[in-house]
Amino acid sequence: MSSVLVAYATHYGSTQEVAEAVAEALNERGVDATVRAARDVNSLDDCSAVVLGGALYFFRLHKDARRFLSRHRKALMDMPVAVFAMGPFNDTEEEFAGARKHLDRALRKKPWLSPVAVGVFGGCFDPTGLRFPHKNPAMKQMPASDIRDWDAIRAWAESLPQALGLEKPPAGS
Ligand SMILES: Cc1cc2nc3c(=O)[nH]c(=O)nc-3n(C[C@H](O)[C@H](O)[C@H](O)COP(=O)(O)O)c2cc1C
Repeated sequence: MSSVLVAYATHYGSTQEVAEAVAEALNERGVDATVRAARDVNSLDDCSAVVLGGALYFFRLHKDARRFLSRHRKALMDMPVAVFAMGPFNDTEEEFAGARKHLDRALRKKPWLSPVAVGVFGGCFDPTGLRFPHKNPAMKQMPASDIRDWDAIRAWAESLPQALGLEKPPAGS
């Protein structure tokens, strides 16, 4: 069975929860998917495809995600990779377009990478839980929000077996 690594880069856990939902959807579709923090992954020897999820911070993809791409470049060049980013606080086209722009900019810095699928999902924010260096007066005044769209996340995850080349397209397509 093909083994997919779902790696995540997080500060406060919401990206990990999305990574777990992606892996669950893959497992339900018969794909063997495991979830790990991107920074804890030393080798990609045991997997045939990767889904990488990273939160956006200050218009950049989380550094653990960027480092994951650099550290595993050689292996990633030889396998299908899907990428998602977490970010927007508000469900507006403008914020999603901004987040997508920032994700695309991060990916352009890795020209050797050609993701088979790219997603942007709304984020989750809790001003009471912020730690240094995010804990500043402006951030603490922002309202808590969680606009993760679990149906959209699930739909994206369900498209992955085909995008990652792990299943044949339906007959007639
Ligand atoms: C200090 C800070 C900066 C952020 N910067 C951005 C940003 O530039 N773009 C964006 O789309 N989201 C931004 N976000 C939203 C986070 O990406 C979002 O809250 C995400 O769900 C956090 O993921 P995590 O819980 O896995 O760390 C920021 C959040 C914080 C707390």
